[in-house]
Amino acid sequence: MENFVSVPPEPNGACHDVAAGSAYEIPAGVAHMLRNKSSGYLEHLVFALPPFNPNDVYLRDQKLSPGKTYPLSLPEAEDCFDGAKILSYAFSRPDLSIAYGWVMNDPARRKQPHRHKKSTEFVYVVEGKGFIEIDRVRHPLESGDWIRIDPETEHGLFNEAPEDLVVVCICSPAFQMEDVRHR
Ligand SMILES: [Fe+2]
Repeated sequence: MENFVSVPPEPNGACHDVAAGSAYEIPAGVAHMLRNKSSGYLEHLVFALPPFNPNDVYLRDQKLSPGKTYPLSLPEAEDCFDGAKILSYAFSRPDLSIAYGWVMNDPARRKQPHRHKKSTEFVYVVEGKGFIEIDRVRHPLESGDWIRIDPETEHGLFNEAPEDLVVVCICSPAFQMEDVRHR
């Protein structure tokens, strides 16, 4: 295997092979790096919880290069059609989109369930409690839950708790408003 993840980097840490479909959880504070030793691309997705913040990144040798900055940025939070507040990311290769979202317990923001004609949607619950309504049946949600929603399946997220329900939603193919249908 030519591609591997080092957690933490050599010489003190172990190296782990990665292949398509591999997933690693890297706790906060653990030095890590991803190396591509192949001649092609090593396409990968990174989920950062809480959301990625450039000021949260430290290089192992940062003491040797103080003041060095890195051109990283976050998108602006926006209102989603379903009432949530989201940070959205879209990618053309692979064809998918990721939204980091906050579902608020605010009746004024509440919307009817919807379905996607083509996209499969995956929802990961980061924190909070709430419900997902799938084909008019409510299921409780809590942190750590993963839900897969197939195309043409009606669904909606609801929060009736004081705290925000924080989720990551992944759509493949990438989210498009034209792909959304309501009851
Ligand atoms: Fe959806």
